[in-house]
Amino acid sequence: MKPARFAYVRAASPDDALHTLHQAGSDACVLAGGQSLLPMLNMRLARPLVVVDIMHVPEWQRINDDGHALRIDASVRQVSLERHRDLEHRQPLLHAVLPFVGHAQTRSRGTVCGSIAHADPSAELPLVLLALRGTVHLRSRARRRDVRGEAFFAGTMATACAEGEVIAAVSFPTARPGTGYAFREVARRPGDFAIVACAAVAETTGVRLAVGGVAEHPRAIDLPADPAAFADALDAFAWELDARDDMHATAWYRRELVRQIGRDVALKAQADAASATKISARPLRGVGGKKSDQLPSRRVLSRPSSKGKGSPGTTSHTISFTLNNHVVFVEAEPRTLLVDVIRHGLGATGTHVGCEHGVCGACTVQIDGQPARSCITLAVQAEGTEIRTVESLAPEPGRLSVLQACFREHHALQCGFCTPGILMSLDALLHTRPDATENEIRAMLSGHLCRCTGYAPIMRAALAAQQQLRD
Ligand SMILES: Cc1cc2nc3c(=O)[nH]c(=O)nc-3n(C[C@H](O)[C@H](O)[C@H](O)COP(=O)(O)OP(=O)(O)OC[C@H]3O[C@@H](n4cnc5c(N)ncnc54)[C@H](O)[C@@H]3O)c2cc1C
Ligand code: FES
Ligand code: FES
Repeated sequence: MKPARFAYVRAASPDDALHTLHQAGSDACVLAGGQSLLPMLNMRLARPLVVVDIMHVPEWQRINDDGHALRIDASVRQVSLERHRDLEHRQPLLHAVLPFVGHAQTRSRGTVCGSIAHADPSAELPLVLLALRGTVHLRSRARRRDVRGEAFFAGTMATACAEGEVIAAVSFPTARPGTGYAFREVARRPGDFAIVACAAVAETTGVRLAVGGVAEHPRAIDLPADPAAFADALDAFAWELDARDDMHATAWYRRELVRQIGRDVALKAQADAASATKISARPLRGVGGKKSDQLPSRRVLSRPSSKGKGSPGTTSHTISFTLNNHVVFVEAEPRTLLVDVIRHGLGATGTHVGCEHGVCGACTVQIDGQPARSCITLAVQAEGTEIRTVESLAPEPGRLSVLQACFREHHALQCGFCTPGILMSLDALLHTRPDATENEIRAMLSGHLCRCTGYAPIMRAALAAQQQLRD
């Protein structure tokens, strides 16, 4: 499963991105974090001729808090928002929801705006946009326009974003005193897309409840303030939704979850409103994405051919990054996956390839210190980054790192296929958060599938390594 050929343009400015999108028309698509687009390219469900990478546009890197709303620019990664200290107080719903958006390994690359643009019916961020009555700020070469969240989603993965347009930012209203928030979802395991997700915002006048995973896009209902009226209103709402059967759940089950979880979440938001004295009036400082989001590397790596609209530029490009502390230069076509460059081009075969759509975790490496899937990252996206693979863990030949030694001691591997990816995720967690709780370690492991060892010994090894690293 590899992408078809396309030309890659790393946009240096909004005008650059919008101009290229305008020129290439329906042959072009935006690349943000790539955590949804790359699986589609790999499976050839999407075959754009031109891919416009917007992650290095300096004007699209900020989270801005004007006291009323958090405005999150197009290139802000989910992890940058998740890690902001004041987020819990400035917008508790976003704070509660972000850990449910995929796995740490996908949030390290995926953007907030990309999730809204992708508009998966089960995705959590579109749900929050709807619950909070947020706004999508669209920009094309010819115009700028704002669309309310309510009017943005048009169907399954269909939105009001037109050809040639980009979501330049999304705005989420900040928390107001006396307002309560709650979120809950049912999924098969942490990090999976929700079977049903509910987000509620309670005020004295009533409760706004948004529901995802049921119909073709998230839907909202405004409930009265009296909880006695919830059951009837939710029953009518559940029947109104065009619920779907799929391999995970029946439409009947989904409707039942809307009634049950919807009610629980609405009540919880009301309880939260009653105790809501904790809202911070202090705006978040403007923050950008992490350093690597802002690399001044603005080089255009390939352009669509000027002959004929959208002809694919298939030329190889020289890409430079640091692999395990060595600066490397590689030649690669734009469609080449990072994992293939690492394994086949550079011989770091400890990184494995499994599913090639971001699910199994076998290909996990660290990009700028964060665990990330190398099968859903293009090699051209790695330009200027620092990459570490499992080969970098051992302090010297013949010696294992603390984490590796604990894996051996606790029998945390059998065939070893999943192990390098798991080690890279745990290494990143234990070094950035030495006091990570057991639940946080479990959440990190939820981004990996181990087919033979079982997770109990892996947890034991992780906890033992954490203890030794602390000591
Ligand atoms: C294993 C796995 C599990 C996941 N689980 C979840 C989950 O539980 N919940 C969830 O919500 N998501 C989940 N995701 C998806 C993930 O969160 C993506 O990050 C997100 O959906 C897309 O963001 P992105 O920045 O990666 O966008 P990309 O993949 O780069 O783009 C996605 C789509 O949006 C378009 N696009 C991106 N940015 C813009 C923009 N600014 N303007 C216009 N169009 C744009 C692209 O052209 C593309 O069509 C999962 C992904 C994986 C691989
Ligand atoms: S997640 Fe990359 S190979 Fe499975
Ligand atoms: S050790 Fe075999 S898949 Fe995990």
